[in-house]
Amino acid sequence: MTRVGVVGATGYAGAELVRILAGHPDVDITTLISRQYAGHRFADIYPSMAGVVDLRCDPLSLDHLTDRTDVVFTALPHKIPMSIVPELVAAGKKVVDLSADFRFKNASTYERYYEPHTASNLLEKAVYGLSEIYADEIRRALIIGNPGCYPTSLLLPLIPLVRNKLLQPDTIIADAKSGVSGAGRSLSLTSHYCEVEASFKAYKVAEHRHNPEMEEILSREAGISVEFTFVPHLVPMSRGMLTTIYVTVEDGVGIEQIRATLKGFYAASPFIRLCAAERTPDTRDVRGSNYCDIGIRMDTRTNRLILISAIDNLVKGAAGQAVQNMNIMLGLDETAGLTTVPYPV
Ligand SMILES: NC(=O)c1ccc[n+]([C@@H]2O[C@H](COP(=O)([O-])OP(=O)(O)OC[C@H]3O[C@@H](n4cnc5c(N)ncnc54)[C@H](OP(=O)(O)O)[C@@H]3O)[C@@H](O)[C@H]2O)c1
Repeated sequence: MTRVGVVGATGYAGAELVRILAGHPDVDITTLISRQYAGHRFADIYPSMAGVVDLRCDPLSLDHLTDRTDVVFTALPHKIPMSIVPELVAAGKKVVDLSADFRFKNASTYERYYEPHTASNLLEKAVYGLSEIYADEIRRALIIGNPGCYPTSLLLPLIPLVRNKLLQPDTIIADAKSGVSGAGRSLSLTSHYCEVEASFKAYKVAEHRHNPEMEEILSREAGISVEFTFVPHLVPMSRGMLTTIYVTVEDGVGIEQIRATLKGFYAASPFIRLCAAERTPDTRDVRGSNYCDIGIRMDTRTNRLILISAIDNLVKGAAGQAVQNMNIMLGLDETAGLTTVPYPV
């Protein structure tokens, strides 16, 4: 059994990691780290874990972590992982970081949108953990920069088509709608019940920090600098993400070629489901699961392709993909611990 620890276990992404890892056949959760809940039983913080997870939270100590783990998940606000990951890697641990700290190859891009980077020497070694796209690199990696939820929902439909030069990347416009858990568990006015219930709004229009992350990856895939318009929205549901992408196709490209390309690319990818032609994805159909459902439509009047994806922001958008990456790193079945069947209603 592989020994795993979760740092930031009591946050929404961390708790989702605990949920998934508790049902994983090949790992033992050996430590759950929290500042404010150190000493508390995890199941007292999340009663759904009663009888399932019998651990108390530990305070953060790097000696304790390196003694007790083979793999560490860091589910912390950005800036904190880069202060602890170097020591974990030096001790031979594999790390899957859910923050933005190890997602960028270009430290100056990270620094423009986040903080000065204190472990930029590790960025070259870190692998962007979009499991279906970078599995070969993930297999050999010691550090995974797990993608953001918006980038996961947007890059999975786009990358196969960009790689095959079927799209005009500079025409991409995307909007995405996220459930409120995407903002994390800590209290903030914008996620209060009365602020979000029965309401639907855009935020950080064309200035969300996931935009440069997506542009860095799309530019690498397209072989040219790609910039595009991205507008995130907040919807009154606890989890789920629906992304709609509008893009002009290259001359002569039709919907059948788009569908065949995505179908071929994802033929061996158990978590990617292409919707039948008449159906569009629904967040309800992926809730609690690691699936990414993709719908494909063509507006033939404007020659514009419309791609729609649905994921659970906490699973394929965070903890599920993190576990999928661990599975790939350890040479386990990619789906181990991730075979939860979504709710039918
Ligand atoms: N929520 C999502 O849908 C989602 C999706 C993709 C990626 N992510 C990323 O995952 C990470 C965690 O997000 P989240 O939504 O789970 O946030 P969250 O609910 O606010 O949880 C953050 C966790 O970090 C711990 N923490 C906070 N400040 C800390 C500090 N200064 N030192 C040590 N520990 C600290 C918190 O617990 P204690 O205070 O008890 O230690 C908590 O366990 C973020 O980087 C986020 O961008 C989240």
